Amino acid sequence: HMYKGHARAYTNIALIKYWGKADQQLILPMNNSLSLTLDAFYTETSVTFSSEFSEDQFYLDHQLQDKKATDKISRFLDLIREKAQSQLFAKVDSQNFVPTAAGLASSASGLAALAGAASAALGLSLEEKELSRLARRGSGSACRSVYGGFAEWQKGDSDETSYAVPIVSNSFEDELSMIFVVVNDQQKDVSSRDGMQRTVETSAFYDGWLATVPQDLAKAHTAITDKDFQALGEVTEASALKMHGTTLAAAPPFTYWSAESMRAMNLVRQLRNQGLSCYFTMDAGPNVKILVQRKDEAALLGKLQEHFSADQLITAHAGPGIKITTKE
Ligand code: DP6
Repeated sequence: HMYKGHARAYTNIALIKYWGKADQQLILPMNNSLSLTLDAFYTETSVTFSSEFSEDQFYLDHQLQDKKATDKISRFLDLIREKAQSQLFAKVDSQNFVPTAAGLASSASGLAALAGAASAALGLSLEEKELSRLARRGSGSACRSVYGGFAEWQKGDSDETSYAVPIVSNSFEDELSMIFVVVNDQQKDVSSRDGMQRTVETSAFYDGWLATVPQDLAKAHTAITDKDFQALGEVTEASALKMHGTTLAAAPPFTYWSAESMRAMNLVRQLRNQGLSCYFTMDAGPNVKILVQRKDEAALLGKLQEHFSADQLITAHAGPGIKITTKE
């Protein structure tokens, strides 16, 4: 017998960043984070469990993955097998849908889709909160991709209490766009997992990061409630700059910024001085993401095209929550 599940999950970008773990094993974060789920990047995953399989198999974009990648998936599936009291092996088929192949695939959409598809296949019909907890065990940021629009990952202090919740927004997210400036550079990034751990353990600035997250979160909540774009943009940019500041004081120090990232960030500041309201954020890589109101999206794109090629620019809007289906 085959047990099948399928899920589509969209990626999310944090406006208030998650940066640092209190528990590596359970993936409990040091601070709450707040994100916007986007429509332009998603992962589709099908999972089939069967007694005919003698090992887990993991296909990504139709390519069978090696042992190292498959072992990660197996460890995550073990959590679900344990919950469902199953010992069946699985075939996992994942496809990333990204507008270009410029390394934009995200662990957030990938692990959320896997959590949804695998749990559905084994007949666990998890509520959103439980699904968010499960996705968190795969990758922290994945717990926020259960929801569409704005979500907050409440750090909690245990496996049971750490999960994301949706944020009441009166559809403010529909007034927003996020433009990705895809920076092509060859430099190998420090993974977010390693980068945040090194920062927690060694950065002299880490305490400063932690101390100011609560006030940034409060500002973001007020900005969403008031539909105050400028306030949301300011706190988004401040949170990203502080997060990236911590990496400079780590030992050894590192940065995700490249010369091209700086060029994009400076351009955002310059355009803002010229009266075009837009703000940037960055994650564990050199790409720059620009938050802008939908009404200003075309004007911003026009300006960006003077500096970056069209294939470096990807426009996203608010996206939906995870979609799960079962067959058989
Ligand atoms: C900079 O969720 O990728 O994107 O929990 O170790 O899998 P793990 O890390 P991950 O970290 C994301 C870090 C970030 C900020 C954010 O998304 O909040």
